[in-house]
Amino acid sequence: MTDAPVAPPRITLPDAQTVTEVTHWTDRLFSFRVSRPQSLRFRSGEFVMIGLMGDNGKPLLRAYSIASPTWDEELEFYSIKVPDGPLTSRLQHIRPGDEIILRPKPVGTLVHDALLPGKRVWFLATGTGIAPFASLVREPETYEKYDQVIVMHTCREVAELEYGRKLIEGLPEDPLIGEMVAGKLRYYPTTTREESPFMGRITDNITSGKVFADLGIAPLDPATDRAMVCGSMAFNKDVMTVLEGAGLREGANSDPREYVVEKAFVGDGV
Ligand code: FAD
Ligand code: A2P
Repeated sequence: MTDAPVAPPRITLPDAQTVTEVTHWTDRLFSFRVSRPQSLRFRSGEFVMIGLMGDNGKPLLRAYSIASPTWDEELEFYSIKVPDGPLTSRLQHIRPGDEIILRPKPVGTLVHDALLPGKRVWFLATGTGIAPFASLVREPETYEKYDQVIVMHTCREVAELEYGRKLIEGLPEDPLIGEMVAGKLRYYPTTTREESPFMGRITDNITSGKVFADLGIAPLDPATDRAMVCGSMAFNKDVMTVLEGAGLREGANSDPREYVVEKAFVGDGV
């Protein structure tokens, strides 16, 4: 007779949270929701460290933007699957009921406090850089602070836009912020390596004026425009050049200005 199978050990750390939902968007992208520590307060746009217990018995943690708004009872994350990535090669297999580790110390620069008051705010993202904006577009403060909220999200292929598209296109129906969003939120998704209604890099669509023409809006004006940027390091660097060229200056929590930047990940991409 063989022994009954032994359940894997539960995480005994106080920072364990339970997975409630997992959605796979592509073979490289998934989102998931976890229970929220009762004491966790964060500002929309911030990130936390999350992870799993490593084989060596030590927590294996990575930075993740909180994709859910501050009023949500749970926390949502949007993640890459790096085939050989120490964390995501395992994290991509989580299922409801599993536990992850979440360090409840939110930080980051993509917060309203780091921007001076303005009339329009631009959320500029590539790839998983949409995650902090998935929180900010669901945040009432965003619509209290700005007359217009413009989301530019660019990916190589159409399927990679799907998480952001579904979320943003569903917002008018949201019982809590649907009315605030109406008439204020503009969404400009583009692809660069697959045909779609709108094409091209964010940098090119700003410098050529295409995005302003397509949306029927005025060009960037440092007196009224504010921007938050989240993408690869190469993208961030090039967008910063474009924004600086239009007269916007980089801000920080301690020194609010016209735009702020956060890395969506460290490295050259996969
Ligand atoms: P790692 O060893 O961490 O990464 C291996 C390589 O994979 C990297 O060198 C890079 O080339 C590539 N890579 C890593 N992350 C990404 C990515 N997101 N998109 C494309 N290529 C990537 N990742 C998320 O998926 N969602 C988030 O919300 C998120 N927020 C972050 C916020 C901050 C401030 C920072 C610094 C990083 C964030 N990341 C996010 C990246 C994340 O911390 C990990 O790098 C990622 O989960 C992969 O972990 P890993 O251990 O599997 O591989
Ligand atoms: P492109 O296909 O022209 O390289 P990645 O998967 O490499 O992180 O890229 C995600 C998206 O960001 C792609 O659409 C890519 O366009 C775009 N991108 C990558 N680097 C830059 C950059 N330096 N400036 C503007 N867009 C960029």
